[in-house]
Amino acid sequence: MKQTYRINELAQGGFGIRVDFASGDIEDVLAAFSSNADAILSHFYAARGLMLIEGMHSVFERPRALVELSRLFGSEVENYHQTLTSPRFFHDSEEEILILSNEPPCNHPPPPRSHDDRLNVQFPHQVNWHSDQSYRRPPPDITLLLAVRTPPPDQGQTLVADCTSACAALTPETRERLRHLNGLHAPSWVGRSREAVEKGEPILDLLPHQRPQRHPLLRQHPVSGEQSLFVCEEKQMDFVDGPVVELETGPNGEGARLIRELLAHSTQEKFVYSHQWQVGDLLIADNRNLLHCATWYDADSYSRLMWRTTVMGNPGHEYVGERKSWTPGDGSEIMAGMDHA
Ligand SMILES: [Fe+2]
Repeated sequence: MKQTYRINELAQGGFGIRVDFASGDIEDVLAAFSSNADAILSHFYAARGLMLIEGMHSVFERPRALVELSRLFGSEVENYHQTLTSPRFFHDSEEEILILSNEPPCNHPPPPRSHDDRLNVQFPHQVNWHSDQSYRRPPPDITLLLAVRTPPPDQGQTLVADCTSACAALTPETRERLRHLNGLHAPSWVGRSREAVEKGEPILDLLPHQRPQRHPLLRQHPVSGEQSLFVCEEKQMDFVDGPVVELETGPNGEGARLIRELLAHSTQEKFVYSHQWQVGDLLIADNRNLLHCATWYDADSYSRLMWRTTVMGNPGHEYVGERKSWTPGDGSEIMAGMDHA
């Protein structure tokens, strides 16, 4: 009878075997292995349980064969649908095959959903809420956002929070307290964000025109006259000298607690609009009284490309007569020392 397989040593000291089958076809391998299972497995265990079979490409065409081969090693090949495994890792057709990959959808988890499968918009479930470039003073008034390329539905939305209504919903006592306080806003890349400070990252030496800028926690809109909350996400505030100028500093200080409370308050679902983008949409948002953020999208699979402009010129009475904080007064480059931004 023709030898259908050969056992070879794999590593030194009798550790492991390489089993060469006469045919690379998976059906032939299965047949040969099945009819010689006792012998092959005794070699396998004698070699301390390590085996290599090369050239198994034909399994790609019939993944079930991997399950059948697996069964030769034990009575139960596990069904991953029943083993506390995320569905992201399930094989399309075989419940016993787990996908391990850096490719979508295995690469990273989708965004958190609420218990009834709605998008969680509220901080801290949803992060990166901000008003554009609030680390400048005066900050820009309006942002215009044009969708050039968009990910599939339910990904990469832009959320917008109405901080005028959020302000109105505060108690008069809280508004009175906030009236005397100022937030300190900083770029995310200078080592002053909550995360950077908590990790002990280096704090960048900043030129005068790059330094964090303060803004009142309550701003009065120059057109409507209404008050609104003005705080940003923890990435865009200064947790070294802030985030609230007049309160205890640092990521665990009273100022940090207040910012988290105000962010969670402002981003309640009742204050939030969720925009599902279509190519060609132009969304315009007033930075003076709105916060916004983008939701998760599968950036490894899809493009999301927006064109943005920001408009300034009427920031409100708090800024009357001020020069632009971000204009270097000493002839230095505007982004000097910020090459990593
Ligand atoms: Fe933005």
